[in-house]
Amino acid sequence: MQWKNSDNAYGVLSKTIHWLMALCILGMFVGGVVMHGMEKSPLKWQLYAFHKSMGLSLLILVFVRIIWHIFSPTPSLGQIKKPVIRKGAKAGHRTLYFFMLFLPISGWIMSCASGYIPNFWGVMQWSLPISKNKTLSSIFHWMHMNMAWLFMAIVAVHITMALWHHYYYKDSTLVRMLPGLEKRN
Ligand code: HEM
Ligand code: HEM
Repeated sequence: MQWKNSDNAYGVLSKTIHWLMALCILGMFVGGVVMHGMEKSPLKWQLYAFHKSMGLSLLILVFVRIIWHIFSPTPSLGQIKKPVIRKGAKAGHRTLYFFMLFLPISGWIMSCASGYIPNFWGVMQWSLPISKNKTLSSIFHWMHMNMAWLFMAIVAVHITMALWHHYYYKDSTLVRMLPGLEKRN
């Protein structure tokens, strides 16, 4: 068991952050759709507050993940034989990072521009240097709502590719991201 990534295996920290964030992001998506569809009630507003704090925590985590990659670069994609698929996988991972940053940032801007500044876990206000602005809030509301669905479509492709590598190419792509496993027999 090693903390850092090696050239051909993910370490404990990268695996933990990957699965923790994957679980939370999927939960944020389902929770976001549910709370959006609810009738106005104190529970709805509690869910909004939770969604905002969790989303901002995920924003912190994605920065932790990026910084960690500077100290511990991701393993090479050498197990993928075709260069075009390797390039596709790299582009796919970059796209996932874009959405992991865009979703919380767009939600944050939307909330601040509509005057509902997030109160981070009830401890402190996370404001932005943006005054109340209906147009800005509508633009970011539209983007947050629609990009969330696009993000989930890309995650679905990502999951399909992971399973495709495992069952069709029979390489180590999925196995080396699973807890406790590194190599495929
Ligand atoms: C990874 C982070 C996030 C994900 C995946 C996410 C996802 C979603 C989804 C799926 C919806 C509902 C969309 C629909 O029903 O079509 C939503 C709504 C919402 N999100 Fe996020 N969100 C994230 C972060 C944030 C953050 C950081 C904030 C604010 C600080 C935020 C504020 C909101 C608000 C206020 C709504 C409700 C809008 C409405 O009901 O009109 N979100 N989010
Ligand atoms: C919201 C959900 C998810 C997101 C945002 C996500 C994001 C990412 C990202 C950015 C990477 C690149 C490595 C890194 O920087 O850590 C990665 C790698 C990987 N993910 Fe996911 N992931 C998600 C869910 C899943 C699920 C459910 C599976 C399993 C079916 C999965 C399987 C993998 C595998 C196997 C790799 C390693 C690819 C390699 O060989 O480098 N991911 N994921």
